[in-house]
Amino acid sequence: MAPLSRVASVADYRALARSRLPRMLFEYLDGGAYAESTLARNARDLERLALRQRVMRDMSTLDTTIELFGQRLSMPLALAPVGIAGMFARRGEVQAARAAAAAGVPLCLSTVGICSVEEVARATQPPWFQLYVLKDRGYMRELLRRARAAACPVLVLTVDLPVPGARYRDVRSGFTGLRGVRAGINRARDGLTHPRWLWDVWLRGRPHALGCVTGALGAGALAGDFLGWIAGNFDRSVTWSDLDWVRSEWDRPLVIKGIMTPEDARAAAGLGVQGIVVSNHGGRQLDGVRSTISALPEIAASVGEATAVLLDGGVRSGLDVLKALALGARACLFGRPWAYALAAGGAPGVARLLATVRSELEVAMILTGCRSARGAGAALLDPAAQPEPLD
Ligand SMILES: Cc1cc2nc3c(=O)[nH]c(=O)nc-3n(C[C@H](O)[C@H](O)[C@H](O)COP(=O)(O)O)c2cc1C
Repeated sequence: MAPLSRVASVADYRALARSRLPRMLFEYLDGGAYAESTLARNARDLERLALRQRVMRDMSTLDTTIELFGQRLSMPLALAPVGIAGMFARRGEVQAARAAAAAGVPLCLSTVGICSVEEVARATQPPWFQLYVLKDRGYMRELLRRARAAACPVLVLTVDLPVPGARYRDVRSGFTGLRGVRAGINRARDGLTHPRWLWDVWLRGRPHALGCVTGALGAGALAGDFLGWIAGNFDRSVTWSDLDWVRSEWDRPLVIKGIMTPEDARAAAGLGVQGIVVSNHGGRQLDGVRSTISALPEIAASVGEATAVLLDGGVRSGLDVLKALALGARACLFGRPWAYALAAGGAPGVARLLATVRSELEVAMILTGCRSARGAGAALLDPAAQPEPLD
C-alpha cells in the first residue's frame, strides 16, 4: 500500500482507509443504502459533466475565496458531518477540525461525533454544528445551548433522516444486527486483525462514547450502538412548522441539509433559512433518488440570492467543486473523502487532501478561464457536450 506521501486522489485515500480500518468501520464509512445506485449516480453524474477549456486569458491572479454565513472560506468547500469519525482515527473530529482550520475551511461536527462540540471547539476554532431532529425536544434544546456556548457559528439541521436507510453492508459486516457475545467476538476479531488501528484508536483514542449524545444514550454505550438509538429517537413526525421552534432556540445562521426538490427548497427559503444543502445523504438514505448534481440547477433557480445553496454527494476533486459551482452551488461539502483521508493519515492526511483539492480547483479555474470562485457560472460548462439526460 502506498504511503501517504504517494497518495494522489480520493480513490487512493479510500484504498488506504480500507487497509487500515477494521472491516466493519470501513463498510460503514464506504457504503450506501440498498443496491447503492444513488451512491454511484452522485459521482458518475459529476464525472460526466464536460467543462469548457479556455486559453490565453492571463490567469496570473486567481481568487478561490468565498464569503459564507459571515465567514471567509479559503475555497468553496466544507467538511460535511460524518458520524463516529473519531473511530477512524484517534480523536478523529479534533484532528480533522485542526486540518480544516489550517486550510481555511469549516468542519461541520455531527450530532453523533465521538468528540463533543466542546472538545472540538477547545482544540481549534468552533465547528459548524449539525443537528438531527430528535423526539426529545428537551435534549435538542440542550444540544443547541451547548453549540451556542461553544460559539458554533452555523447550525446545520439534517432533515433527510427521519429513519435510518437500510444499509446492507452494515448487516453483512456485523456492524448492525449482532447482539451480546456474538457482537463482542465479531468486534474483537475485526479489531485484532488491524493492529495499527487497535493501538491508535481503540487503546489511545478513548473514550469512544458519542460526545454530544452520551447524556441521552448512557455513558456505557459504544459507538456501534448509535444506529439503534437513531432508529428509536429520530422524529418522523417533523414538519416545516418545527423550524419555528428551532429558530426560537438558534439566532445564528441556519442551514437545512437534505433538500432534493425545488418545492422543499422554496419551503426552506420561505422560512428564512440562510442556506440549504442539496444532499441525499451520500446515497445512504433513499436509494433510487436522483444524483445531487442533477437536482442542483432546478433547486438553485428556485431560491433567491439570500439563500446559499450548497451541495454534497460524489464530490471527489477540485474539478468536481468547479462543476458544482458552474451549476449554481455556492460551495460543496466533502463527506467520505475527508473521512478516508482521516483514516489513512489523521490530520496530515486531511491536510494533504485539502491541499490537493485546492490545487485541483486552481488548475481547473485556470484552464476554464475562471478568475474568481464567486464568479463561476454556467459559462464554464460546454452546453454541446453535456450528457443527455443528466440522470
Ligand atoms: C460514514 C458517514 C456518516 C455520516 N454521518 C452523518 C451525520 O452524522 N449527519 C449528517 O447530517 N450527515 C451524515 N453523513 C452524510 C454526509 O454529511 C454527506 O451528506 C455525504 O457523505 C456526502 O456524500 P459523499 O460522502 O459522497 O461526499 C454521513 C456520511 C457518511 C459517509
